[in-house]
Amino acid sequence: MPLFGQSLLSAESVQTDDTLAIFHLAQRYKQEFARSRQFSVKPVMSRGPLCVAMLFFEPSTRTRMSFEFAAYRLGLNVVTLENLESSSLVKGETTVDTVRNVSAMNPDLICIRYGMDEDLDSALTKLKVPVINCGSGIYEHPTQALLDAFTILENRGRIQAERVLIVGDLRHSRVANSNLTILRQSGAEVAYCAPDTNLPQNPRWNDVQRFESLGEGLRWASVCMCLRNQTERHHDQKSSLTPEVYSLDSEALAHFPQDGIILHPGPVNIGAEIKVEALNDKRVRILNQVENGVFVRAAILATILGVEGNSL
Ligand code: CP
Repeated sequence: MPLFGQSLLSAESVQTDDTLAIFHLAQRYKQEFARSRQFSVKPVMSRGPLCVAMLFFEPSTRTRMSFEFAAYRLGLNVVTLENLESSSLVKGETTVDTVRNVSAMNPDLICIRYGMDEDLDSALTKLKVPVINCGSGIYEHPTQALLDAFTILENRGRIQAERVLIVGDLRHSRVANSNLTILRQSGAEVAYCAPDTNLPQNPRWNDVQRFESLGEGLRWASVCMCLRNQTERHHDQKSSLTPEVYSLDSEALAHFPQDGIILHPGPVNIGAEIKVEALNDKRVRILNQVENGVFVRAAILATILGVEGNSL
């Protein structure tokens, strides 16, 4: 069984078969939910009620809540470290030690988000419990990439040979790194458009085509994926907000195919990455991504925990 009992720490650890199985199950959950507002999951009574621990050391709305919705829809119990200010982190406990202690409470799975923390990167690979990376530093956000690819498949009918233009602050984007891996693995062509101040740092981008002009990139693309300005990571002097010429507005969108789709992982800095008029464009699929996030993350949880059950 793909991913069963395993951690999902990076996009590179996701095999093509895993991706296909997750998409298949996510689509099934979405269809079942449309029919009956529930997923057909058999409780795994022999293993007792399964518990997912949620550890978010960085802020989140979409990722955390969609994992929680997904877990509840699957009949899982969720234990969340709700408020970091009321945890023992304020007494000086490290993130690594926090995770080791939560792991010692024997959750069935840990969902975790954190910043730049090499000690934690390493510690997570040694835990006995499966771990899902819900966003780590500027490196990886594999479940976002899976839900983005699922949304492309749903809207475009394929991923193979789709031309995905990633626009904006690639220098600090974990979303872009994971997307490059999953999209290429699925047969898409990927290119990017970013200012000199915000070029990708990760070597996996070395052979990826760059468009200097947003209009030129949009004429090439069938999917436009805008990125958030990651201002919380703009500590180094080289980085800055992406200039106006990288904002999606109606003038830029005039270059984009009528049947193309526009994605953004959120949260959108409205007026910065996307102008208000462009947000109302019929090609925008941002809330579709958010909706799909619940089904894709449910499929990931169910696959790792082995609770996918039978079709209704
Ligand atoms: N896309 C994303 O990771 O959003 P959140 O930070 O709200 O989880």
